[in-house]
Amino acid sequence: MASFSCSSSSSVMSVMGVILLLFSVLLAAAEAPVPARSASDQMILAACKTVGGGSTYFDVTFCLGALGSAGGAGGYQDLAAVAVDLLATNATSTEAKIDRLLGGSGVEVKADDAALARCLRSCQSLYGGIVDDGPACTAAVNGGRFGEATAILEKAAAAAKECEGGFEKSSAASPLTAEDDDAFKLAKLAVALLRFASEPGNGHCCY
Ligand SMILES: *[C@@H]1O[C@H](CO)[C@@H](O)[C@H](O)[C@H]1NC(C)=O
Repeated sequence: MASFSCSSSSSVMSVMGVILLLFSVLLAAAEAPVPARSASDQMILAACKTVGGGSTYFDVTFCLGALGSAGGAGGYQDLAAVAVDLLATNATSTEAKIDRLLGGSGVEVKADDAALARCLRSCQSLYGGIVDDGPACTAAVNGGRFGEATAILEKAAAAAKECEGGFEKSSAASPLTAEDDDAFKLAKLAVALLRFASEPGNGHCCY
């Protein structure tokens, strides 16, 4: 009987111990500070809510995904420059993918698939144009020539749309749907950011 009560009380003690331990762990977790959003994160979130909320071309999630990595962005103009960079990187990798699809021995695109090859060649030239225009677009954004930058970006958005549309017209399955979508949205995102950058108080008017 004595041994029963002894073991019983020790198991009660260990249960209490576990509960206390759990409790203190929970308490510590509750008290742990929430990682603070940096000023730059807050700026990006606010900017994405503003431009994404008012856009029919892309949403807040796309904007955050694209700009989320932009450390130290200071305003709409800087964010537009980030979007322009992303577009250039995207277009460069899409161009490489097209080259690979068309490339060499035609491993990926069969010789008899003339329609697909024709569409890909058209996209190759369209994306080549986006890549070539990249430096001028960046220079225009950084130089505050937003109208010029916007014209280049609208041309890029139209090129991505034209590439995708070519496959549809030829009833060929597009191997570039995701890339065309990203390029179109990145260009429209940059255009939207530039629109806000040109509003007084949003840009770098007052340094
Ligand atoms: C292209 O842009 C999209 C959207 O921001 C991004 O998710 C993707 O990683 C980019 N791809 C490349 C190769 O830069």
